[in-house]
Amino acid sequence: MENPNGTGAKVLTNAEVEARVEVILAGLSLSEKVGQLTQVGGTTFIEGPKPEDVIRRGGAGSVLWLNDTQKFNALQRIAVEESPSGIPLLFALDVIHGYRTIFPVPLAMAASWDPTVPERAQAVAAKEARAAGLHWTFGPMLDIARDARWGRIVEGAGEDPHLGAAMAAAQVRGFQGDRLGAPDRVVACAKHFAGYGASDGGRDYDPVYLPEGLLRNVYFPPFHAAVEAGVGTFMSAYMDLNDVPASGNRWLLRDVLRGEWGFKGFVVSDALAVGNLVTQGFARDRRDAAFRALSAGLDMDMASNTYPEHLEELVDSGALSVELIDDAVRAILAVKVRMGLFEQPYADEGLLEQVVASPEHRTAARLAAQRSMVLLRNEGALLPLDKGIKNLAVIGTLANSKSATEGSWMVFGHIPAAVTVLEGIRAKLPDATITYAPGPEIEREFPSMFDILMPDPNKPAPQTPEQAEVAFQQAVDTARGADLVVMVLGEHANMSGEAASRASLDLPGRQEELLKAVVALGKPVVLVLLNGRPLSITWAAENVPAIVEAWEPGTEGGHAVADILFGDVNPGGKLPVTFPRKGSHAPLYYARNLTHSPEGSRAYNPRYWDGLPTPLYPFGFGLSYTTFEIANVSVSTARMKVGETLTVTADVTNTGRVAGDEVVQLYIHQRAGSDTRPMRELKGFERVTLQPGETRTVTFQLGPSALRYWSTSRGAWVQDAAEFDIWVGSDSLATLHAEFRVES
Ligand code: BGC
Repeated sequence: MENPNGTGAKVLTNAEVEARVEVILAGLSLSEKVGQLTQVGGTTFIEGPKPEDVIRRGGAGSVLWLNDTQKFNALQRIAVEESPSGIPLLFALDVIHGYRTIFPVPLAMAASWDPTVPERAQAVAAKEARAAGLHWTFGPMLDIARDARWGRIVEGAGEDPHLGAAMAAAQVRGFQGDRLGAPDRVVACAKHFAGYGASDGGRDYDPVYLPEGLLRNVYFPPFHAAVEAGVGTFMSAYMDLNDVPASGNRWLLRDVLRGEWGFKGFVVSDALAVGNLVTQGFARDRRDAAFRALSAGLDMDMASNTYPEHLEELVDSGALSVELIDDAVRAILAVKVRMGLFEQPYADEGLLEQVVASPEHRTAARLAAQRSMVLLRNEGALLPLDKGIKNLAVIGTLANSKSATEGSWMVFGHIPAAVTVLEGIRAKLPDATITYAPGPEIEREFPSMFDILMPDPNKPAPQTPEQAEVAFQQAVDTARGADLVVMVLGEHANMSGEAASRASLDLPGRQEELLKAVVALGKPVVLVLLNGRPLSITWAAENVPAIVEAWEPGTEGGHAVADILFGDVNPGGKLPVTFPRKGSHAPLYYARNLTHSPEGSRAYNPRYWDGLPTPLYPFGFGLSYTTFEIANVSVSTARMKVGETLTVTADVTNTGRVAGDEVVQLYIHQRAGSDTRPMRELKGFERVTLQPGETRTVTFQLGPSALRYWSTSRGAWVQDAAEFDIWVGSDSLATLHAEFRVES
């Protein structure tokens, strides 16, 4: 079969890849082998030798932090034509939710509850990235996040392992296609293995303590799903996991990943993480760090330079066996062979502009944004708005911010083609009077790491309190002059993401004060949220009639918001994370275990005496412009044996007057068993589109893989003979109930 990548080479069998790798490996000196295990930075964040010099002497296998097709080709030419082995480089970058055409952030795409959304998005991202000359993306990010304070919650699929696993597999398929080396695709990287989302206090990089049961039942499933989907690479996490840094954690990288899951690709460290094993108080010195990371199963050192400094000497002195080095090199070479890099190492310098020009990419981005948005409130059916409206005000600094619209991880130069919410509304209503006032600017109290590394020369000076006050009054005055107000509030892109954790989940700055002042005018107000994490909008949830969670919706975000506001699209997204009432309630998630004084019991004592501890919006929640009824839940059998599978069905009917989407969700609870189990666990979901009056029967299977779990009391995977509750409904508070029993 011809390799459709345009290389003319044939798709190799596993045996052919292995044979080829052995031939290449046999020709490499130890120093060249270590070079393959070394990833160097293509830009100047970190001090060190020039990448050209390192590549010329065979000292690098991969380059990151570079985004320039000509430069890729120039460096590749050095690798292929001037380095002793001539092995091509792998070019890597964080392509997280789009390359040029930016899709909604991953948390938003998870809110679609439709795996085809991230799959298509990542296929487009892969096509554009590959056209630019990239081979490898540092995504998908698969960290379960139950603490909304943690900034990186924006990069993942939220709090749930079942939803997370579905989104993980979809993203791997999108990035890679059906195999490594598929045309127009890139190698994916499942990161950050593992547990990073559970850092103490939601503080980025802080240590993580997770018992094995929680790791295996909650934090591992998306990673395991990525392996099953054929992901080519893994990235180790930064933080300590139960006192052993993830980047030096043999149990994670060898026992679980390779031993149990059979992963055959390679593992790269997170940036500088091998060297950080010293900083973290784990390794004695950099030599020890290199020794322990490689021994633990970490194949490629991302930019810390620890491997090139020490691996050769460690082998020469007999401390490390060359077999360990060879195994790591083999895995990296196999990826290069499968990607067809030996046949076609160079990028076509004109290709990107052609690829990006495809209107399909923007159409896909708009659809993804539409499907990701969640309608949180719609009192008195204020939405959808009438397109005949004559005089509308749009308020909020985010309403016309391209960077807030595109969202986090846009550090490597994209064309700022984003359509803001203001622009989207103006395009939708070309004849209406649409006034705009930004209100006071919102700022982080401390600058982001990216703001420091890559300062924006055009960033205006921070507003003085006096300027902010003027902006505040102008915004209120602008709202006063309109018939209806759309407030666009939330967070700037640099307020979530890496090193962007928060202690509070309130709207930052004076946004809530402004919202209150505008609502006090007595006009109809719609709140559109642009943000990368749950926000505690308790006041808005009671006082603003219509609220749309638009997340960070990407290049076409403003159009998609306007499509939703004016009813061209009926929102159907659902929250992939619980929205707490306060930041201090985090971590808050639905799949908690029962306690001795459960809610509703006589002994129930609200967990806090100073406010309701329940979510503001529960996991799985989202409204529509129509209504649905879910009924007739039935199980194929009330009793079955361990190991058997039962079928659950339920009917969902659109009981309203317009077509719409409902996400039917299946939750289970095991009443008693070897261990206590969560009071609810998502085990199935399906997003369906229904015309008014239409009914559809939705079917779920519950078999051993859904019913087994890692038991702490038994130290093993178990499927208990036990009684189960089932709920089917439209969010994690579903009440439609059935039950079944599993017998031994
Ligand atoms: C982040 C990773 C990222 C890497 C390379 C690190 O700081 O934690 O997610 O892939 O940088 O950019």
